[in-house]
Amino acid sequence: MRTLWHNCQAATMVEGRYSIIKDAAIVTHAGLIEWIGPRAQLQISALERTVDLDGAWVTPGLIDCHTHVVFGGNRSDEFEQRLQGVSYAEIAAQGGGIASTVRATRAASEDELFASARQRVQALMRDGVTTLEIKSGYGLDLENERKMLRVARRLADELPLTVRATCLAAHALPPEYAGRADDYIAHICDHMLPALAAEGLVDAVDAFCEHLAFSPQQVEKVFIKAHELGLPVKLHAEQLSSLHGSSLAARYQALSADHLEFMTEQDAIAMAAAGTVAVLLPGAFYFLRETQLPPMDALRRHGVKMALASDLNPGTSPGLSLRLMLNMGCTCFRMTPEQALAGVTLHAAAALGLEGSHGSLEVGKVADFVAWQIDRPADLAYWLGGDLPKRVVRMGHEICI
Ligand code: NIG
Ligand code: FE
Repeated sequence: MRTLWHNCQAATMVEGRYSIIKDAAIVTHAGLIEWIGPRAQLQISALERTVDLDGAWVTPGLIDCHTHVVFGGNRSDEFEQRLQGVSYAEIAAQGGGIASTVRATRAASEDELFASARQRVQALMRDGVTTLEIKSGYGLDLENERKMLRVARRLADELPLTVRATCLAAHALPPEYAGRADDYIAHICDHMLPALAAEGLVDAVDAFCEHLAFSPQQVEKVFIKAHELGLPVKLHAEQLSSLHGSSLAARYQALSADHLEFMTEQDAIAMAAAGTVAVLLPGAFYFLRETQLPPMDALRRHGVKMALASDLNPGTSPGLSLRLMLNMGCTCFRMTPEQALAGVTLHAAAALGLEGSHGSLEVGKVADFVAWQIDRPADLAYWLGGDLPKRVVRMGHEICI
């Protein structure tokens, strides 16, 4: 149905700027944006439906490009421990951390994981999220990674949402491989990735490059296999220390390198040259009470695209609001509200390889947008979470959340 949406202002986010159209009109047809511009210039007449947006500000549908939303249990007990001074690394060394979520995730059925993830995804959707990345990485064997990735696919089938599924089998060492990290990496490369890719469950491959996870040499093996399978890569890099994982990611044309608090200027230069997006995760920075800031000046100076994401996970960022991350991106990392909004729209799309179809309001792109009853776009980064009045449109159809 060819629909005209009018009586609105649009922050189109073209080229990662607000790129505002005042008194805008948007025509959607067959799930795509057929026309967008000032209402006075609209010439299409064969309209089947007209929707008055009541003066709203329209933005692209928000994109959360880094989540671990599928998991069993939760770790509020560890949160209490950390508040008493025990560090994330110490908890991990004692068998807690990621390992405790692996136990809970392995014990949960696919239906249980689906039900709990669905609630969290719906919380994100209430913030205007229409596209979501979901990582595996709490199964750490073929059967349980498959279970997580199937839940990601099912969430896309059952909710009005675009989902990209990322295999993060190289997230942590499973207990059955204790002391044998190289063997686990070989198992990922020889068995897990080929099988999961053949089942159509994987859109990208990620790994955790860190002293308490995998070395750059081990990550590189995973990247080589991903490329053999025709899959793009991403990397958790430089979160707790500097191993130059982000430079490694750039060498493999990674879609993104994520976290990055400890990255260097050389890493930023490599990422800029490769077009690898810097995904900043202020929820984890805040929740771990990190003090090392990502090198924002270097990222800006070298023109690295910056995305923002929730990192929604039970250990380091139980963040159910992407808009709260906009605020944290501004307050913690000194992004401008405009950069923060680009970080959850156009640059988040780039971090998922979806820049050609999502992330900005442009002719030919998917008609995913949010009509917010706000005074100006900066309001999206200004309010600390909460529920802002809005209408959400996905593929040209208004959805109820
Ligand atoms: O993105 N850095 C590694 N992975 C997650 C943490 C996962 C967890 O602690 O459960 C992150 O912060
Ligand atoms: Fe993460």
